[in-house]
Amino acid sequence: MNRNTKRSLLLVTALSCFLMLFTQCKDVKIEDAVKRGKLADSAMVVSARQEASAIGASILKKGGNAFDAMIATDLSLTVSYPVAGNIGGGGFMVFRDHKGKTGSLDFREKAPLKAHRDMYLDENGEIIPNKSRFGALAIGVPGTVAGLFKVHEKYGSLPFADLINPAIELAKNGFVLTSGQARRLNYYRDDFRKANGDKIYLDKEWFEGDTLKNPNLASTFERIRDNGRDEFYSGTTANMIVNHINKLGGIISLQDLNKYSAVWRNPIEFNYKSYTMISMPPPSSGGICLEQLFKSIEPFEIKGLGHNSEKYVQLLTETERRVYADRAFFLGDPDFVTIPLDTLRSKTYNERRMSSFSWDNATPSSEVSHGDIEIIESDQTTHYSIVDSYGNAVAVTTTLNGAYGSKVYVEEGGFFLNNEMDDLSAKAGIPNMFGLIGAEANAIEPEKRMLSSMTPTIVEKDGELLMVVGSPGGSTIITTVFQTILNVIEFDMGMSEAVSSSRFHHQWLPDEIVFERTFDTLAFQNLRAKGYNPRSGESLIIGKVDAILVLSDGKLEGGADQRGDDAAEGF
Ligand code: GLY
Repeated sequence: MNRNTKRSLLLVTALSCFLMLFTQCKDVKIEDAVKRGKLADSAMVVSARQEASAIGASILKKGGNAFDAMIATDLSLTVSYPVAGNIGGGGFMVFRDHKGKTGSLDFREKAPLKAHRDMYLDENGEIIPNKSRFGALAIGVPGTVAGLFKVHEKYGSLPFADLINPAIELAKNGFVLTSGQARRLNYYRDDFRKANGDKIYLDKEWFEGDTLKNPNLASTFERIRDNGRDEFYSGTTANMIVNHINKLGGIISLQDLNKYSAVWRNPIEFNYKSYTMISMPPPSSGGICLEQLFKSIEPFEIKGLGHNSEKYVQLLTETERRVYADRAFFLGDPDFVTIPLDTLRSKTYNERRMSSFSWDNATPSSEVSHGDIEIIESDQTTHYSIVDSYGNAVAVTTTLNGAYGSKVYVEEGGFFLNNEMDDLSAKAGIPNMFGLIGAEANAIEPEKRMLSSMTPTIVEKDGELLMVVGSPGGSTIITTVFQTILNVIEFDMGMSEAVSSSRFHHQWLPDEIVFERTFDTLAFQNLRAKGYNPRSGESLIIGKVDAILVLSDGKLEGGADQRGDDAAEGF
């Protein structure tokens, strides 16, 4: 099997797993999903779980703002969405306040102080399978708790206790498992045991309708409520984390936790026609890639191509191919590497990159790339969108990386720890394996933040709030957000229709277009004839968008992705 075939199988397998784990046994075809989502007059939360959306919305109803609701929603997702909800992970937040002021917060995980660039290689310099993805060595220093306190300190309006108490109650009283959740927990039981060297609290056979309570997580939240941020980074909880990780042979120390801090960053902002997009800067690749994608398509008349038509697929594929090649080569943690931001973001550069594009033939990825660098990211991330009645908006994407992260579970604390170290390049700068020195920007270094694809994004039209959007889906996040925005602004769809609409994805390598299941097979023949490599399958889904659209009458429309259990709540 050659390397490209292996990569193709890997991507298809990853996407298939994503479907298996995320689609529910309910009879919803993506294309048949409601054309119009839930409507609200003034405030809304859309997230991966109904309980979390309802708790976020209740905070807004009490007069809290979008930042308050972010904290309550996030903590509730840790309880009710353990596959990706996280205090043991990290993420990014982009906001636009009621006056139009924008900003972003980076609470991405960091590599531990004892990390080094060859830590996942054997004595022959070969990658040790799974070492960066499974177990204690895969864990990055978590950022979520620091992020939530940082937001509260600057923009919170209600006491922190009011925001964490609903999650404490949820953890004490439990929530009812959906079929998808029960299936996922059962699917990973062996991994839980293997990663922790013992049975964990969640290790039992689960059924749809079971109530999952988490008293240890409730106690952790109570300690955080009573002792503040430091509880997680230097208190009892910090000791629980470090003891468990050390027992399992990991390298995160109390010093790592003590040193962690979340960082306010200037968001990536750019214009496309009469729209302004506000998105996440590095260490996420999301905002820059999104800008490059929009700049690359701007000279074309998009609507005239027809939604999801052969030509539309070709154009987006060619832009995605070029942008993902740049991503692999240039992007990394801005605190460690210099990124040629001005060039990557310029109209001239992106138009020049597209000059080799032809409607007649695919451009092979080998002719576009700087190097042969594999991008493997997994799907178990979660996004939520919030608009409050004051007009503040927040877009938040957070992750444990893989499903239940590293599978390492802090039993006494009641939460999983991420496996975000896998988002760093395990074999950076070794040309024979990964092409040229492209992975250098994302090579492992102590305290480095790993490159991400998370793309929490806010869209303005003529200076007014239009949309809050984002998705999980690893490397497919960027193309998912891109296509969802295009569905609204170029193809006049409402939010729910835009979210439900079928998607496709190209990421430079492997050189193939991955389609969700509802695409026309005839177009595949034509695409093949032009040198494209389309792939599809009953089991493929791409992304899981939770978004809010401000309609022309001022009402809010929620787009809660029917690919999962996602739900919008508002008033
Ligand atoms: N772990 C997925 C991402 O950060 O893009």
